[in-house]
Amino acid sequence: QEDHFKKVISHAKEYGYIFGSSEIYDGLSAVYDYGQNGAELKKNIRDYWWKSMVQMHENIVGIDASIFMHPTTWKASGHVDAFNDPLIDNKDSKKRYRADVLIEDYAEKLNQKALKEIAKAKKRFGDKFDEQEFVTTNPRVLRYRKEQETVLQRMARSLEAEDLADVKALIEELGIADPDTGSKNWTDVRQFNLMFGTKLGASAETATDLYLRPETAQGIFVNFLNVQKTGRMKIPFGIAQTGKAFRNEIVARQFIFRMREFEQMEMQFFVRPGDELKWYEHWKETRLKWHLSLGLGEENYRFHDHEKLAHYANAAADIEFDFPFGFKELEGIHSRTDFDLKAHEEFSGKKLQFFDPELNENYVPYVVETSIGLDRMFLAVFSKSLEEEELENGSTRTVLKLPAILAPVKAAILPLVKKDGLPEVAQKIIDDLKFDFNVAYDEKDAVGRRYRRQDAAGTPFCITVDHDTLEDESVTIRDRDTMEQKRVKISELATILHEKIDF
Ligand code: GAP
Repeated sequence: QEDHFKKVISHAKEYGYIFGSSEIYDGLSAVYDYGQNGAELKKNIRDYWWKSMVQMHENIVGIDASIFMHPTTWKASGHVDAFNDPLIDNKDSKKRYRADVLIEDYAEKLNQKALKEIAKAKKRFGDKFDEQEFVTTNPRVLRYRKEQETVLQRMARSLEAEDLADVKALIEELGIADPDTGSKNWTDVRQFNLMFGTKLGASAETATDLYLRPETAQGIFVNFLNVQKTGRMKIPFGIAQTGKAFRNEIVARQFIFRMREFEQMEMQFFVRPGDELKWYEHWKETRLKWHLSLGLGEENYRFHDHEKLAHYANAAADIEFDFPFGFKELEGIHSRTDFDLKAHEEFSGKKLQFFDPELNENYVPYVVETSIGLDRMFLAVFSKSLEEEELENGSTRTVLKLPAILAPVKAAILPLVKKDGLPEVAQKIIDDLKFDFNVAYDEKDAVGRRYRRQDAAGTPFCITVDHDTLEDESVTIRDRDTMEQKRVKISELATILHEKIDF
């Protein structure tokens, strides 16, 4: 798994998907740039989300709110007081860590130990192995699992009670060491606010302190009435948006899984009080279906229902994905009650209510939110699509099996040779297709090598122009995944691509 993760990172760089930010200056930790292919893949994921959430729902509209917001927004939302991570420093290495992540990593190691025992037994007993029976009776597995649960429960309890001394005590009792240096010389644990501050205004005296938004959701809440009134929206209805969010995360080596500058795709669905749990279930299912529609494999997703709820929520679940480093949160679905709108009413002194003509009454709607990180979705798709494939002739190929609808380049047009008028025909095909599809031209190297290059770059189709093309106005279209080649008329190409790629 670790190897695969390394391959994902180097492949993303080699094929123009993701670069470290300002790399020539040695980069900036947890900040990344998307290259020529990455920008396209990211845009295609965003468009796919927007189309499913906004265009396909008559009662959901999209907005684009600013990153800067009035500073009181973040008092009302609770972010000034409660958007913290518990941090701990190692006195020897001077490195800073999230205390909860150190403990979670320790618990994950116990889980890995249990999994190893299970794998060993599976090998030993072969067909006769009964996993259910084994995990409920094997003393070692039971011990690892029990300890894992105890550790995580104690951490959750201490964090909830803001008992930071106990979080430190837990780290010491477990003997957790600095992952880089092995030192166990820790400072106390303290809370650290994740919002980035900045200033608005020219002179130091008159400047106002601002925050970069840590979530896009608040831009939707403060615009709730603007949209409801001008769009004449009736409850239930949703407001969606995509955009940058910023968090001063303390992270180590998680690539684009946890970034300091990232993009969210969020939708707030406003419902009648009392209907929220019905809608919560609806959105859980709808969002899972959206993920499954991409065909990356059902086994890579699971729900994690939260037992401990944030102060604003009455139900919450994550859709977790099997990333190269295990199952982790990809998307959150939260029933946020009327917490946010009520808080904004209180802090702004303005009413944020809906007159429900059917009930003939005013109320503050309840909100069910779906919130997914675009970069995290990118990592999910990219890491699962990257395969090292054994071919029948014994050789291997690297192939990036991106869902065709998301692939940056839909087809590469390849003249078999660089002469005899073939490049001109290829160029003509590009001119015909490029209005509808992002297509590329490649004439360098033998055609087999060009196929491999396009396989690795994630291009779902290669269209080859050869000498017969000059006679029969047909080309060969090769499928990236099956490697099958078919002869088709040039005039049919656009229809074929539309069939394979359209939403
Ligand atoms: N409005 C709710 C909200 O922001 P969240 O669970 O804090 O909830 C939602 O974030 C999603 O945003 C996460 O499921 C994750 O996909 C993404 N996300 C959060 N922090 C991130 C980070 N530092 N880097 C990349 N994605 C992040």
